[in-house]
Amino acid sequence: MRPPADIQPQEVLDYLKAQEAKTLLRFLTCGSVDDGKSTLIGRLLYDSKLLFEDQLAALDVAAGNGQAGVPDLASLVDGLQAEQEQGITIDVAYRFFATETRKFIVADTPGHEQYTRNMATGASTADLAVILIDARKGVLTQTRRHSYIASLLGIRHVILAVNKMDLVGYGQDRFDDIVSDYFAFAQALGFAEITTIPVSALKGDNVISASTQMPWYSGPSLLEQLEAVDVARDVQDAPFRFPVQWVNRPDLDFRGYSGTVTSGSVRPGDEVTILPSFKTSRVERIVTFDGDLDEAFAGQAITLVLADQVDVSRGDVLACSDAPPEITDQFAAHLIWMHDEPLLPERSYLLKMANQTVPAVVTELKHVVNVNTMEQLAAKTLELNEIGFCNLALDRAVTYEPYKQTRELGGFVLIDRITNQTVGAGMIEFGLRRATNLVWQELYIDKARRSVMNKQRPCVLWFTGLSGSGKSTIASLVERRLHALTHRTYILDGDNVRHGLNKDLGFTDVDRVENIRRVAEVSSLMVDAGLIVLVSFISPFRNERRLARDMLGEGEFLEIFVDTPLEVCEARDPKGLYEKARAGDIKNFTGIDSPYEVPEQADITVDTTTLSPEAAAEHVVAVLKDRKLIE
Ligand code: ADX
Repeated sequence: MRPPADIQPQEVLDYLKAQEAKTLLRFLTCGSVDDGKSTLIGRLLYDSKLLFEDQLAALDVAAGNGQAGVPDLASLVDGLQAEQEQGITIDVAYRFFATETRKFIVADTPGHEQYTRNMATGASTADLAVILIDARKGVLTQTRRHSYIASLLGIRHVILAVNKMDLVGYGQDRFDDIVSDYFAFAQALGFAEITTIPVSALKGDNVISASTQMPWYSGPSLLEQLEAVDVARDVQDAPFRFPVQWVNRPDLDFRGYSGTVTSGSVRPGDEVTILPSFKTSRVERIVTFDGDLDEAFAGQAITLVLADQVDVSRGDVLACSDAPPEITDQFAAHLIWMHDEPLLPERSYLLKMANQTVPAVVTELKHVVNVNTMEQLAAKTLELNEIGFCNLALDRAVTYEPYKQTRELGGFVLIDRITNQTVGAGMIEFGLRRATNLVWQELYIDKARRSVMNKQRPCVLWFTGLSGSGKSTIASLVERRLHALTHRTYILDGDNVRHGLNKDLGFTDVDRVENIRRVAEVSSLMVDAGLIVLVSFISPFRNERRLARDMLGEGEFLEIFVDTPLEVCEARDPKGLYEKARAGDIKNFTGIDSPYEVPEQADITVDTTTLSPEAAAEHVVAVLKDRKLIE
C-alpha cells in the first residue's frame, strides 16, 4: 500500500481515507487446479490492476492490535485466533487486493478431500464462495462437497463460475445444463443467492468485463459481481451482540469493556443485558481511539462504558435487552475433525467460543456425513477431515446463538488439553435445554464437616501403570497401613469396578476414556464423602488423569506412577494376559497394541524393579505424612 514517492502528505491522507471507506469482501475459491482456479485468481489479481496486495501475515499482526480500519482476519470465531495461538498451521493461502470500489481477501484452499479442514478454515471467515466448474466436466462430486462445506460454514452467497467456456465453443446449452444440474442439489443447501457466470479464465471472458464471445449472457462479470454483492446487511440488521474481549481498567476512574461488535448496532442510552448473568445496565459511552461515537456497528472495535457498577468479565456477552441470546451447557453441533488423532467421545476438550473457554465433551456422535454424497452414516468416532453431527456437554453454561444466526457466537474450536492443539471446529445448530432445569442442591453437611468428623484430609491416591505393574498390590498395602492408623479409606480397583459400574465397557480408547471418566467422578464423590480413596487403574491417557486431577481441589490428588517396564510386567504376567495378548487372543492390550502415556509430572514414582511392594507402600505413606495429608 505504497503511493508514489513524490506525492504530497495531504494526498497520502486522502488516499488512505479512500481505502478505509471501501467495504471489504472476504471470499473463498473452491475447485481444483484442473478447473483453472489458479488461472482465475491470477487473472483477477492481474486484470483488476490491483492497487495493493499483501500477505495476510502482515495484516494479521495489525489486526491483533485491534486497530480500526484494518480487517480483522481472525473473526471466524475467537477460534481461528485461538488456532493461531495454538500454533497449528492449517494451510490456507490468503491474498489481499483492492479495486476502485472494494477491498478483497480471497482464501485459496486446496480442493481435495484430504484438505477439507483447510477449506473449512478458509470458509469460516468468508461471506461468499466462488465455486469453479470445468465446463467440459460439469457438476462433480467435489462440486457437491465444496458447496456442502461452504453452506455448513455459513456462506450465504455463491458464484458458480463455469470455466473453460472456450473449450465448449462458448455454447449456452452446455452452460444451462450445468446450471440446472447445480441447482438441483444446491437448493437444499439454503444459500441466499447463487449467481451463475460463464467464464474463460484463460481467455479472460467475463472475468473482469463482459465477454464478446457470449452475447447470450447478459449478467455481470465475475469481478462486477464480487464488487456488487451485498453481504453486509446480514449482520447489521441482527440484534446487538458484543462479546467482551477484555476489561479495560487503566485507573480507578475508568472502567470499559473492549471488543468487537459482532452483530447489530448500539448507541449511548441503549439498555444492554449482560450474559450469562442476565443483569442489565445502560450504555453510557462508546469510546474509540479517535474519540466517542454516537453509534457503533457490526465489525467495529470499541470500548463500552456502562452506567452501573456491574460485574462484567472477559467472555461475557453484552446484548440488546429486547432480544438477548440464550445460554446453555449442552448443544447439538456440526463438528469438523482437524487432527490426526481421532475424536474420543467422552474425552474432555477445551471449547473456545467468542472469548469463552470451557471444558467440553462430545456426549453423543449422532452421525458422520459422507462429504461427497451428504449421506449420514453411523460412527463411533471422527477421523481427520471427517464431519459429524453431535451433542456436546460443557462444564458450565456459555452464551451462544445458532451458527447460522451469528457465526461469532455459534462457531467454536475444540482444543486438546494436554497438547494445546486445535483438534476440531464446530458450528452450533441448536441448544439442548435439558440441563438448564437441573440446579445444584445446596447441602448443609459438606466435605469440610465430614473431614472433621473423619479426622482426616480426604484425597485421592491415583495409582497408574501397566497391567501387572503392581498397582493393586501396593495400593492394598498402603490401605492396610492407613487403616492401622485409623483412617477411613476405600479402594477403587480396575478389575473390580469393571465387574459392576463399568461392566458395559471394553478396552478400546473410547471405552477407556469413559472408564476413567466414571472412576474420576466416583473418586471425587468419595473425597466429598471425606474418604481417602485409592484408585488403581491402568489409566493410560494423560488427558483423563488430568481430568481426574482437575475435579479435585489443590493438594487433594496424588498421581502415583507405578513404574515397571513392560518386559518386567510381561515376565511376571500374574494373570497370564500378556501371553494371551502376544498370541493375539486379547486385542488392544496396553503396552502391546494399545498405548500407555507415561506420566510427565507424577507426584510419586515408585520403581518396582528396585523397591519391594512393602518398601513402595512405606514410601507412599511417608509422602502422605510429608504433605500433611495424614498425621
Ligand atoms: S484402563 O486402561 O481402562 O484403565 P483398567 O485398569 O480399568 O484399564 O483395567 C485393566 C485390567 O483389565 C488389567 O489389569 C487386566 O486385568 C484387564 N484387561 C483385560 N483386557 C485388557 C486389555 N486389553 N488391556 C489392558 N488390560 C486388560
